[in-house]
Amino acid sequence: MLKIFKPCDFHVHLREGSLSQFVLKENNKHFQKILVMPNLENPLTNAELLLKYRNKILKMNKSSEVLFTIYLNNNCSMRDLNYMRKNNLFFAAKLYPLNATTNSGSGVSDIKKMAKYFSFLEGHNIPLCIHGEHVHENDDPYEREKKFLDLELSWIIKNFKSLKITLEHITTKDSVSFVKSNKNISATITTHHLLENTHTFLGGNLRPELFCKPIIKSSIHQEALQKVALSGSSKFFFGSDSAPHLKSRKYAPACCAGVYSTKYSISNIIELFWINKKTSNLNKFLTLNGCKHYGLKYDNKSYKYKRIKNFKFQKYSKFQNDHLINYNYFKNFWTEV
Ligand code: DOR
Ligand code: ZN
Repeated sequence: MLKIFKPCDFHVHLREGSLSQFVLKENNKHFQKILVMPNLENPLTNAELLLKYRNKILKMNKSSEVLFTIYLNNNCSMRDLNYMRKNNLFFAAKLYPLNATTNSGSGVSDIKKMAKYFSFLEGHNIPLCIHGEHVHENDDPYEREKKFLDLELSWIIKNFKSLKITLEHITTKDSVSFVKSNKNISATITTHHLLENTHTFLGGNLRPELFCKPIIKSSIHQEALQKVALSGSSKFFFGSDSAPHLKSRKYAPACCAGVYSTKYSISNIIELFWINKKTSNLNKFLTLNGCKHYGLKYDNKSYKYKRIKNFKFQKYSKFQNDHLINYNYFKNFWTEV
């Protein structure tokens, strides 16, 4: 048995329509706060789209505090952004490099063209959440994150010194060092990047359910992520990047990128900290570090979790005529009591 604050997930994909209802319900069970990503099929690039989506989600929401993001690109109108800011419609802006991942076809191809938007965010103390991959023809997908640090993120940091940045779902030891050695930047880490590596992903049979962006890296990188997360280091916190895709789209010739981890993510994180005797750092990783980075108040009531050995995990959740694939790693299950 252990006691922790109700966790926060600072990076989730709720999707749209009936899928969002299903996914939000699962999120409500586990999280006191969620930061929702804007990469819908029709991305949330303006006030009209954001308002519509926001109202639908808030109507369905039962318990979590839902924080919204806007999809930033060089077609965003400054007037619109100001209107959304004044009316507190969004909490952070999200930057997707063009074609980096799911629904990033409206993303950004040249970050230097984003300077006026970065100044706006910096001036109003609005966080910028970044999908940190440099995407270019013929590049090696394993090098994208490192290239982004060198070619793009360094430029942003140098030119917008007070901009509050979250480097999302980091996967490399290079990102760990980069975040540690720069000011005003923190990073989220996912469950699957903490628990998997190239060996478990494609060293035996290929496992489409683990295919995601950024792609899962080698154990050297995995160890760096585990070390920094387990240490409770204040610049690193949990963001699952839980990204539901239908099973028929995952086990397909063109497998889409995304791991749906919401159902068991907290159980997996607790077990990782438990076996490493670091449960005293769970609140930092799951609640405190993220809230501190974002300047958010949190519910500091403690919730009890118990460990069930050799639990029978549900690999698939039925959704309409298809399924979602639940990510799980460990044999033991931690559940709230
Ligand atoms: O694997 C991913 N899937 N990475 C992302 O950045 C987006 C996500 C999605 O929306 O499916
Ligand atoms: Zn994501």
